[in-house]
Formats: sequence, structure tokens, C-alpha cells
Amino acid sequence: MFRKKCPCVMLALLAAMLAAPAVAADSAEGKAIFESTCAVCHGMTGRPDPDSPVVKGLGVLPADLSDPLFNSREAAGDWEMVIKYGGHAMGLGQKMPAHKDALTDGQIANVVAYGKSLVDTSAYPPGEMNLFLPTRTKKAFPEDEVVYKGRYTDQAGDNPLKSVLEIEKRFGQRGQGILELVHVNDAVRSELTDVEVGYKHALSWSTEHILSGAIIYAVPVDSSDSDGELQTYLAYGTALSPSWILQSSLRLKFPMDKASDGEMELAGAIHYVHSPWPRRVFPGLEIIAENPFRSRNGDLEWTVLPQVRIGLTRGGHVALNLAVELPLSGQSWDKRAYLTLLWDFADGGFFKGW
Ligand code: HEC
Repeated sequence: MFRKKCPCVMLALLAAMLAAPAVAADSAEGKAIFESTCAVCHGMTGRPDPDSPVVKGLGVLPADLSDPLFNSREAAGDWEMVIKYGGHAMGLGQKMPAHKDALTDGQIANVVAYGKSLVDTSAYPPGEMNLFLPTRTKKAFPEDEVVYKGRYTDQAGDNPLKSVLEIEKRFGQRGQGILELVHVNDAVRSELTDVEVGYKHALSWSTEHILSGAIIYAVPVDSSDSDGELQTYLAYGTALSPSWILQSSLRLKFPMDKASDGEMELAGAIHYVHSPWPRRVFPGLEIIAENPFRSRNGDLEWTVLPQVRIGLTRGGHVALNLAVELPLSGQSWDKRAYLTLLWDFADGGFFKGW
């Protein structure tokens, strides 16, 4: 039975492949457009010539497309938006002109493919995998960002507010340094409790997936409280389709005084990316399972977090995430609310492009 089906399946696949539209970029056309339309500002090799009269007249240096870090860190789709609608529409300067009346979408895709080929970026994780920051799931892409995360817990007797300020800085081709300051405000204290230092490393990637590993050491500000905690996680991100993204992370926490008091946390998040415009509201949903090593029966504690990502700037480099967390396993608290403010400082100053 099965054998008989095989040729049919293969034929169907072949038919599907033949019917698929030709998506391969036309690099000859991309090159011709680049040289006739873009090189006057960006230079023939993608590196702008600061001494050219045109560049001098702009008063701002056009992006250097021959720099592999710069070239890799923005998704091709974002470049298409900048080229089509101009720098201003995406929160950049007015001097990068809109080409929507001069070039078709196909021509823009070809010139972007050519622009992306100006330098070998294979050693850098691609900007396509710089996915939306979820609320609790760890992000895999190593990025330059400053994040404030506030968590308000609604529970009987006390409503603690935990604030975390994260400063994350890209290191080399695939690394990221992490510094986090944790502040707790509850019935008995309002103080800085921990300083966390860590490193994240992108392990594997393509334009459809990314996998990273990280290690973080949480140092208590008051060392009489505890000896600190070691955390380690794997984070994964993938594009399920052009408009759905999935991220997941597996995190282990080991208190230094007693590693067996630690816990494991498995998290997953999906986001619906319904528009190429960054300044939109994008819904998402996360599910978290926590498993304290000490739990006798190995029961997982589940929570669910409906949320929205709201792009604030025209280019989306400043964004807000609002989430509620609902306990599903009889936890001691009733509800949690999260506010996450993200500033991707590789894309410019906080006040740029509002
Ligand atoms: C009149 C000069 C000029 C022309 C023509 C021009 N650009 Fe630009 N381009 C700029 C400037 C200036 C910037 C930097 C804008 C900023 O950062 O404020 C820029 C930025 C960019 C960026 C960076 C976007 C980002 O994410 O930071 C890309 C990609 C780009 N241009 C591609 C192109 C392509 C492809 C063409 C031809 C179709 C082109 N440009 C034509 C001046 C120009």
C-alpha cells in the first residue's frame, strides 16, 4: 500500500515545485539597479565615499552596506521597506529616498538581494532572526538593547513589584554581554537585590532559525541573603511562516548554596506578525512550565501569558510589550502584569523616529 503511494507523493511534490513561482533573485538586474541608482550615495562597493560631492552634499553619511555587521543585522524585508518608502517612513533620515515610483517590488527585492551579497555575512546571525522580544521566553538573537521589565504580582497580603533593567551589548560576530539590575519593592523592602552578569552565544542559525546558549551569574547585593544563583539557558527562534514566529527557551537555575533547590523552566511564545510596518500592535501568546527540582511528584507549574507588542517608533526600535500572566496550576498568586519597554540602540537613539 505504502509503496504504491510513493511515486504519487513524489509526483505531487515535483508538480508543486514546478508550479512554485520563481523566487530566486535576479542578481544581474539587482547589480544594474544598484550601480545606476544607489551607488551615487552608497558607493559601487556599498561603502560610501565621504569625499564624493554628492555624499558631502547629503550632510549625513549613507549606510555602509559593505560592513558585515551592519549588512547582517537588519532583515532583507526591512531594507525593502526603507528602499520602497524611504528612510523617513522607517524612522531613518530623509536623505535615503523612497523608490516606490521608480522601482517595482520585484526590482526592489533584486537590489536588496544584491546589496546583501556585497559582503560575506555568513559568520553573523541574520537580522531575519532578530524576532520580537517575548515577555518571559528568552530571546536567541544577540542584539544591542536596553530593556526595562516591570512585573506586578497580585496576591493576597502583598503586591510586590519587581523591576529589571537589562543592558545587552553585542560582542564580536555572535556573542552578547548581559548586565541586569534587579530591584524589588514589597511590604518589607524597596531595594536593589541582585546584579546579574552573563554571556550569550549564537550557536547555529539560518534565515529561518536561530539557536543560542547563555550563562548568567546572579550576585546578591546583600551577600548575607544568599550566595547567588547560576542560570543557564538555550533559546531557539524560528519563522513558522511569513506571518507567524515561534520562540522557545529551556532555562535551569541553580542557587549556589544549594543547587538542588533550583528549577527548570520551559517557555514558548508565538507572535502573529501581520504587517511589515513596525509601528503596529502585534498579538502574542506565551506558555511557561516550571519544575522545581524539589517538587516531589515532578508536577509542572503552568502559566499562560496573552500579550501585545506595540511598536512605538516608526522603525520599531523602541517598543512596548504588555502582558498578563495567568496561573493554571493553583499557584499562590492570582495574576501578574508585565510591562516591558525595549530600546534597540543599534538602530539609533531613543528619541529617533517617533
Ligand atoms: C541620495 C542618496 C541615496 C540614494 C540614491 C540611496 N540611498 Fe540608501 N541611504 C542613504 C542615506 C543617507 C542613508 C542613511 C539614512 C539614515 O540612517 O538616516 C541610507 C540608508 C540606506 C539603507 C540602510 C537602512 C537601515 O536599516 O539602516 C539601505 C539598506 C539603503 N540605504 C539602500 C539603498 C539602496 C538599495 C538604494 C538604491 C535603490 C539607495 N539606498 C539609494 C542615501 C541614499
